[in-house]
Amino acid sequence: MAIIRVSQDELVQRDAAISEIREYYSSLCLSKGRKMTYSVRTYGCQLNESDSEKLCGMLEQMGLVSAPEDEASDVTVFNTCAIRENAEDRLFGNLGMVKADKKEDKDRIIAVCGCMTKIPENVDRIKKSFPYVDLVFDPQQLHLFPVYLRDVLRNRKQLVNISAVDYIVDDSLVPVFRKRKFRALVPIMYGCNNFCTYCIVPYARGRERSRDMSDILRELDELACAGYKEVMLLGQNVNSYKSSDGKTFTDLLGEASKIKGFNRIRFMSSHPKDISERIVDLIASSSNIETHLHLPLQSGSDEVLKRMNRPYSRQDFLKTADYFRKMVPEGSISTDIIVGFPGETEEDFRRTLEIVEQVRFDSAFTFQYSARPGTKAASMPDQIPHEVVTERFARLLELQNEYAYRSNLAKVGRTEEVLIEGASSTAPDILTGRTLSNHLVNFTIPEDLKDGSKSSDDYEGLLCDVLIESARPYSVDGKMVRLK
Ligand code: 5AD
Ligand code: SF4
Repeated sequence: MAIIRVSQDELVQRDAAISEIREYYSSLCLSKGRKMTYSVRTYGCQLNESDSEKLCGMLEQMGLVSAPEDEASDVTVFNTCAIRENAEDRLFGNLGMVKADKKEDKDRIIAVCGCMTKIPENVDRIKKSFPYVDLVFDPQQLHLFPVYLRDVLRNRKQLVNISAVDYIVDDSLVPVFRKRKFRALVPIMYGCNNFCTYCIVPYARGRERSRDMSDILRELDELACAGYKEVMLLGQNVNSYKSSDGKTFTDLLGEASKIKGFNRIRFMSSHPKDISERIVDLIASSSNIETHLHLPLQSGSDEVLKRMNRPYSRQDFLKTADYFRKMVPEGSISTDIIVGFPGETEEDFRRTLEIVEQVRFDSAFTFQYSARPGTKAASMPDQIPHEVVTERFARLLELQNEYAYRSNLAKVGRTEEVLIEGASSTAPDILTGRTLSNHLVNFTIPEDLKDGSKSSDDYEGLLCDVLIESARPYSVDGKMVRLK
């Protein structure tokens, strides 16, 4: 697969397309007597969230405004995820539901992009069963979305454009419409070369390409000047970041932590085979890199790890976890675990439970193995029966929930600095935020600290100290003691 930099020519084409679409929608706006709207529905990981912010940026430049939730929009983009089958099922269900919207107003546009479009079976199914979908394009060509949309508006027939090219895009050249006013998602690399045998990502996202460190640092400087408090450096495997001039992730993280203005620097995901003690040392010595490591384990059995093509052993993993606990005692470790990988025996599974007890993960994302077409694991013998997977999954969840609760319980009685994310979705007078160690905190503001001129939303992005009073399985509760 070729890896190329986005050319100036393509950017000129894209901007011309944006102008043409803008004109089209402004005349439609006059004839319909209302604003033209868009919605971008995102499935999956933070990298998809970041892509969606770029799609929104381009749609805003076209003169469209975000549609109120649950209202049909003039342009709907489904940014899909292919990591497990249930994410795909959700997309097909939702595509069925927008058919009526399209019937009601033929001018409405429906587009599908994201990882699912790189699986030919999915594209065939869209063509056959969802002919009213106007546009299908893949995640490597996000910056060309306006060009494709313009072609659809001109020709009014289904356009499917899946490329065999991996682009390196200088993200500062793509407009971004950020969802949160305090948090900036910043991809530092795209794609993955690891080919874990269960994983579709290398097929969907292409080969690893790292952005230049100077481009990233320029973007971070601009974000800090614009008032962002938290930055999240994103990549499928950030530890294998390598810029064209040989700079590594440790160099980048070190430089990022020196930029004034950021209270929190987060990064994900790390690969246990590449994480170095130097990264842990950097976390330990810096005041604004979050004291949290997301380190996907996947399995505690060396045999299963081998068949997953994860080149580390449970011993290697334990060594990294121990070093982190020693150097960052207040920190937290989260992980991803897959249950029911082909050939996983009861003994293999017990090894996973054992390591969960040894590491005491502060939180974990646990998944039932899902066979992905085209991956090596999908054709391995000994696929595990569904009932065995669900039974093991329940045991793992029960054990892990206990450790997550203990991790939260250890915070009770302490006063922690919290970066406020906004009002809780269930109770508007409760604020929510995270500690430097990524613990989720729900808290109230006592009467004497309340500022009558502020609504809950005005607290978003501010720092405060919170006294933690009680723990739940997935969060802690407390009260604000000082607004910073
Ligand atoms: N089945 C189940 N879980 C998977 N993951 C990736 N591929 C699969 C699959 N085929 C999980 C891994 C990864 C996380 C993002 O998703 O645990 O770390
Ligand atoms: Fe998938 Fe493995 Fe790459 Fe992660 S490192 S994206 S699990 S192939």
